[in-house]
Amino acid sequence: VEDITPIKDTLDVPFGVAIDSRETVGNPAKLVLKHFDQITPENHFKPEAWYDEDRNFRPNSEAIALMDFARDNDVRVYGHTLLWYAQTPDWFFQDDAGNPLPADATGKAVLTQRLKDHINKVAAWLATYGEFGGGNPIVAFDVVNEVVADTPENADGLRRSEYFRILGEDHIDLAFQFANQAFNVDHAASGANRPVKLFINDYNSEQSGKQDRYYALVQRMLSRGVKVDGVGHQMHLSMTSPISSLDGALDRFADLPVVQAVTELDVTLATPVTQAQIIDQGYFYRDAFKIFREHDLFSVTVWGLTDTRSWRAEQSPLVFDGQLQAKPAYYGIADPENLP
Ligand code: G3I
Repeated sequence: VEDITPIKDTLDVPFGVAIDSRETVGNPAKLVLKHFDQITPENHFKPEAWYDEDRNFRPNSEAIALMDFARDNDVRVYGHTLLWYAQTPDWFFQDDAGNPLPADATGKAVLTQRLKDHINKVAAWLATYGEFGGGNPIVAFDVVNEVVADTPENADGLRRSEYFRILGEDHIDLAFQFANQAFNVDHAASGANRPVKLFINDYNSEQSGKQDRYYALVQRMLSRGVKVDGVGHQMHLSMTSPISSLDGALDRFADLPVVQAVTELDVTLATPVTQAQIIDQGYFYRDAFKIFREHDLFSVTVWGLTDTRSWRAEQSPLVFDGQLQAKPAYYGIADPENLP
């Protein structure tokens, strides 16, 4: 692990990274602890990760490794995610015969109960790591992930998921209601002192159409009294993403009574990747973090520790390379004067 300034020491905002258990040991763990304040479980808090083949809830070994790592090293955990259209067991949306749950009162009741049980069980297991807001590493949770539609054809702007088919827009409010009961039971109000900040999270919020639908949804939730603390901007970006659009996204939601976070940042390059592009990417990261520093954010998280561990590995989107060495992106964030 290189002798360079920790990124977290150069930022006022908590700096996070998505990891799995591979980054909780050896040199990757040293790199995480040197540069980051916070982790997000990249895959192992997702709904399907919590169930065995017999539909029994059980903490998975990856989740245990991540929570142990966070507790032992005093690292914050941003939970991801309680409700998602993907990576959810098929049986959530089926009756006992394996047929799709109907969108009638019976189907609604069954799915509502499953969602409630799921959230309660996740929270109950996490609570074994200490009181929320009093020693537990969990500081935030993506309650719902990617519920906004990619295209404008429906007036509500919501994704046509199985949750939507059965419960309609209510599925979002129900998830927040259950998460509030499970994580913030003695802290019913929104505001600064809630122990676990409850987020809605989505991608492409820097793009105009998606941003309009996302904003309208959060407005409706707030007008219905849903206790949503935060809006997450994933920010899966590329070198052609206009930098001003990042500012635009964060400005757009600034008038709402919510905090904001950058939850899944990465910046892809065109393939084949060249050294010149890697350098340009350093300047992109510099400009992005200039904007992030100008906003009051809950945290900024990069979606992976090294390029080789990224879901978009071929496009080298992250801050450290496969040898755990700092790329120009590191200098863009932490030390722009030493950009090549
Ligand atoms: O662990 C299994 C392994 O047992 C199995 O043999 C193998 C065969 O496919 O799959 C492995 O699971 C894969 C998992 O990553 C862990 O590596 C899944 O197939 C694969 O779909 C999964 O991809 C993840 C993806 O979400 C889908 O859950 C990516 O790692 C993860 O970076 C990505 O993250 C998402 C965020 O959650 C939400 N926002 C977008 C972001 C990028 O897609």
